[in-house]
Amino acid sequence: MKFLTAFLAFVTGIMLAAAPARAVELSIVSGDTGNGIKVLREILDRYEKKSGNKVDIVVIPPSTTDQFGQYRLWLAAGSSDIDVYQTDVIWAPQLASQLVDLTEATKDVVAGHFASIIKSQTVNGRLVALPIFTDAPALYYRKDLLDKYGLKVPTSWKELADTAKLVTDKERAAGNKDIWGFVFQGNAYEGLTCNALEWVMSNGGGGIIEPDGSISINNPKAAAALDMVKGWIGTIAPPGVLAYQEEEARGVWQTGNAVFMRNWPYAYALGNSENSPIKGRFDVAPLPAGTGEGARPVATLGGWNLAVSKYSKHPDAAIDLVKFIASPEMQKYRTLKTANLPTIAALYDDPDIARQQPIVPRWKQIFLNAQPRPSSTARIKYNEASSQFWTAVHKTISGDGAAADNLADLEARLTRLKGKGW
Ligand code: GLC
Repeated sequence: MKFLTAFLAFVTGIMLAAAPARAVELSIVSGDTGNGIKVLREILDRYEKKSGNKVDIVVIPPSTTDQFGQYRLWLAAGSSDIDVYQTDVIWAPQLASQLVDLTEATKDVVAGHFASIIKSQTVNGRLVALPIFTDAPALYYRKDLLDKYGLKVPTSWKELADTAKLVTDKERAAGNKDIWGFVFQGNAYEGLTCNALEWVMSNGGGGIIEPDGSISINNPKAAAALDMVKGWIGTIAPPGVLAYQEEEARGVWQTGNAVFMRNWPYAYALGNSENSPIKGRFDVAPLPAGTGEGARPVATLGGWNLAVSKYSKHPDAAIDLVKFIASPEMQKYRTLKTANLPTIAALYDDPDIARQQPIVPRWKQIFLNAQPRPSSTARIKYNEASSQFWTAVHKTISGDGAAADNLADLEARLTRLKGKGW
């Protein structure tokens, strides 16, 4: 009997020592752009196999502005429904207080990521999100059409507009009735802030709010840039562009109905996918510059990260999941499938990536020189500042008020916002 008790105790001991940590169910929220959800699911399937945990994806609309609004609701309610949030590079200062500090848990991996991105996700010494990809836009152009008419890739917005007009006039005359010159993100949301920062800054008109906190947007070069864009609507760009986000622009482009498009690298992988009508018929170039003094090409910095909710019931498992998705192996997998730019420097020298998604090594310098939005200056007021900016821009390019007046009004609004503290 004594022996039996000892034996049972021994066996139970072995069983306990060998038992894996109890499997948990996690949820991750992600916006639906391109094939992003499909690839995330593939990554999660691998994680489930490795960890024994289950992960559900909560899919929400692609607009980062809508996502931010939804995140705020969940977090304000202290909801434990979401363990892991996929967060835009600009949101760290605004969401920080409701996210878990990842500093300690990621100290073995952060050195592999670009320091500038880690810094952008660090708020008051707390790392609130781990990067999974970065973003810098490209000018997509139809190589076949430019070659057909013996035209060069434009390096200024003026050249772009002239080239777009020339090609569309000829193509339409030849029966290609649905062709447009240029598509971009003209809807009133965060994507318009990205596009408009490029128009304004590439024309020497400054960065809206400067790093020292000064509000610089009310100036003639910024106004001239917006007037230029207003002139595109209904001429080289379809009137509907005023409602386009990334996916609407890509829809027109990928069916072959645009000569040029401004978009992020994900459109490169999709444009070259199996059934794409424009597969092999396009290439990418840096965005054009404005004209006059101070003009230079500008690409707005984007990018996505993973953050763990303070209200998660399984923070350790959630951190484990975040580290898995952000790992070099999974970033490589994602990049091969989506052309998303990795946040790990070593992957820019990876031969498989260079072969399958050649935009990635080509875009390293563009990303390293990309222009951040003023979110680390406007901090907790960034969303409101950006929304004031995109509203003024949208009004102007829709023909509602003159650029100079709308920018003077914007300056007054931003000054009031700054007065309340940011
Ligand atoms: C892309 C960028 C993101 C940006 C958004 C705007 O998703 O990565 O940073 O805010 O586009 O639409």
